[in-house]
Amino acid sequence: MKKLKVGVLVSGNGSNLQAIIDACQRGEVPAEVVSVITNRATAFGLERARKAGIAAVHLDHREFAGREAYDAAVVAELQRQGVELVALAGFMRIITRVLLDAFPQRVMNIHPALLPSFPGLDAQQQALDHGVKVTGCTVHFVDEGTDTGPIIIQAVVPVLPDDSVETLSRRILCQEHRSYPQAIRFYAEGRLTVEGRRVNISGEHVSSDVSLINPSAR
Ligand code: GRF
Repeated sequence: MKKLKVGVLVSGNGSNLQAIIDACQRGEVPAEVVSVITNRATAFGLERARKAGIAAVHLDHREFAGREAYDAAVVAELQRQGVELVALAGFMRIITRVLLDAFPQRVMNIHPALLPSFPGLDAQQQALDHGVKVTGCTVHFVDEGTDTGPIIIQAVVPVLPDDSVETLSRRILCQEHRSYPQAIRFYAEGRLTVEGRRVNISGEHVSSDVSLINPSAR
């Protein structure tokens, strides 16, 4: 199968980027990361990309006139590398129509909560403050809103009584590292169709006794 070319946008540690790179290299996802872009020179994701031999670029947002101009530069770089799917992985910037129009229904994001609960920043702290008993992560297509696009995969984790932001974030991250490669796999296999807010996954049968991850991880 021809490999899907993925571009990943990061601002920080890049552990999701690493999970995607690793899953592709293990042959679990028929895709390859061909471009990594960051807005922060210090992002560890840059190092991860370079170590894996992936074209990695730092585009400093302060050097651009505005969000549209910045996104146009991002699009140019992604197109230069032949990217077919864009994965936002801890990319701490609001993206504009410029990116969405260049990659229609081809931009994904991961969020560390069960959307539509706790969108935006500090999702883990929001979950703790609200006192929920379960939270998790969501992989979704990106639309113009903040964390509002059609949901592809969600995974659930418990919130424990003595959790801190750090312990809860770690538990969620473990699920992020499974969910993001899985969502990219579904996309790469051509199994995702979007109807309004719903994302259908062909060939995936979720049995009713699987309650903690949807769709089931197999
Ligand atoms: C993750 O929790 C992701 O859900 C959020 O930002 C964090 C990025 O972590 N959007 P990493 O850089 O992939 O380690």
